[in-house]
Amino acid sequence: MKRLFTILLLSLTILTACGPAAEAEETPVLLDQPELEKLEGSPKPTAPQERFYLNRNLPAEERAEDLLIRMTLEEKVGQMTLIEKGSITPEGVEEYFIGGVLSGGGGTPSSNTTEAWAKMVDSYQEGALATRLAIPIIYGVDAVHGHNNVKGAVIFPHNIGLGATGDPDLVYRIGVATAEEMAATNIHWNYAPAIPVVQDIRWGRTYESYGEDTRLVTQLGTAYLEGLQGDDLSDPLTVLGTPKHYIGDGATVWGSSMTGNYQLDQGVMTATEDEIREKYLPPYQAAIDAGALSVMVSFSSWQDTKMHAHKYLVTDVLKGELSFEGFVVSDWGGLDQVNGNYYRAVVESINAGIDMNMVPYSATKFINAMLDAVENGDISEERVNDAVYRILLAKFKLGLFERPYSDPALFDLVGSEKNRELAREAVAKSAVLLKNENAALPVSKDSSLIFLAGEGADDIGMQCGGWTISWQGAKGAITPGTTIKDAFENAFEGQLQYNRFGKYDNILDENGNPAVADVGIVVVAENPYAEGVGDARDLKLSSNDLEMIERVKERSQKLIVIVMSGRPLVITEALDLADAWVAVWLPGTEGEGVADVVFGDAPFVGKTPFTWPASMDQLPLGSYNTEPLFPYGYGLEN
Ligand code: GLC
Repeated sequence: MKRLFTILLLSLTILTACGPAAEAEETPVLLDQPELEKLEGSPKPTAPQERFYLNRNLPAEERAEDLLIRMTLEEKVGQMTLIEKGSITPEGVEEYFIGGVLSGGGGTPSSNTTEAWAKMVDSYQEGALATRLAIPIIYGVDAVHGHNNVKGAVIFPHNIGLGATGDPDLVYRIGVATAEEMAATNIHWNYAPAIPVVQDIRWGRTYESYGEDTRLVTQLGTAYLEGLQGDDLSDPLTVLGTPKHYIGDGATVWGSSMTGNYQLDQGVMTATEDEIREKYLPPYQAAIDAGALSVMVSFSSWQDTKMHAHKYLVTDVLKGELSFEGFVVSDWGGLDQVNGNYYRAVVESINAGIDMNMVPYSATKFINAMLDAVENGDISEERVNDAVYRILLAKFKLGLFERPYSDPALFDLVGSEKNRELAREAVAKSAVLLKNENAALPVSKDSSLIFLAGEGADDIGMQCGGWTISWQGAKGAITPGTTIKDAFENAFEGQLQYNRFGKYDNILDENGNPAVADVGIVVVAENPYAEGVGDARDLKLSSNDLEMIERVKERSQKLIVIVMSGRPLVITEALDLADAWVAVWLPGTEGEGVADVVFGDAPFVGKTPFTWPASMDQLPLGSYNTEPLFPYGYGLEN
């Protein structure tokens, strides 16, 4: 009914626009002759001559209505198609009226520079603007901890570390900074924040979450979204956020996944509806209230139905009860998992409420299935119109029609010193002090000798974790940044001896005996991973790590262990070996933040956003009544 009113209002606008009074108001955008000829071929003779949708002074709702009634079915289905950049050319965007293009994790241009990113996005935009109605594409990436595909971008702590800060203002500012760096590359759609309320830290996506507590996830997920989107989504330095993955992606049961050798990721959620509403829905309600216009559905299932085909939860609850007016986007090929018959998968998912399909490879396969389904009456044109309207509404609110191309004046925003300082602040505030005896921390800068050990102490790739430059992340100098070792060398003027294995045989004291350090610092770290690849049966420290801790202990008066991981690790058997333990999660490129808390230039304020298990049989959360090693929210201060 609301939409009918809008069309009537629009028609009225057309009538009044012809009267003298109209002269004083905004002059409607008139078509020049060539465009008129294009339009005159339009199959919608009822479409008004003036292309009101190009009038930036009209409300986005009216512009979307005006555009929708001009579109052919092919143009509408094209808008519902989101394809990965390696599977489409700019000419293909024009030919199939594609609505969205994305870079999956690591989907970089041939040279990974800011300029090359902007040029790549612009090239697809040219294809879109060459179409009859010149509807710009929306380009999306996973900028889940900074603009993390782009070399030189500032990589912020992953969400688990931000959860440890418990600081919504800090998270808001990180959203602003991330949007800035994305906008510099003309990318205005972020598949973030992930807002799972994680119940089993064996999940490979635990670090993408703010924590196990609904209130914390709600508070920080909303703050980040508001930072991304700002007060006015059409501002050049804001981007569209995408709360994900709806719903209960972090509540699946071990061993229930049917995807490859995944165990939890893309598995089955067994929560009751009451639990879903109490524990997993509030972050989405808050995000929608904060202006979310895009939500990504989960690969997981509930009550024998894939979320991608769950009409009750997607349409009745999300769009109905929660009044979500934006568009629902599928996950990467998520629609294909719904039914072995692709045509049926398309019908069931689109009718369940998916508005844009992240195909991600074959645009024509999806487009043809859609055209057939509408022709067969299996998908109504009303459903298509609803989906397209939602997509167009977001594009108009984003200002894409007014500003489709990159602005080179923004390029320097990527990797800015201001954003590095912000990331450094976040790293320091995310560090959680788990144990501190014998006044081990902070380490005195007057110490004469410090031993530093551990591969992760000098590896920016491990420091950043997954979703960095590539989908899974990788070890090594994958992008500019400051490792913990670099940061310690910058902060400490005494003798710092680094050995990744904790072997210092050749370090002797003045008497020619093996030197004993004032302080030994060992970094134990996880190797990078993403999604189900990181589903872990065992979170105990490796025997190599235990031996390294023992080795350094023998040569140090005091010993500190730093845990650099995407989730709590089971450290119980080694806890007594060290005077102090610190969790730094996955800090990103600004290792200086770790030095700041270790050497006392910043206080420890972090609190663990996950219950820290004493043993593996305490997982999933709450499954046993034995005491955890550290409770949710634990963290010493100094
Ligand atoms: C991935 C993830 C999702 C991401 C999407 C695009 O499989 O599940 O979080 O946004 O694909 O990269």
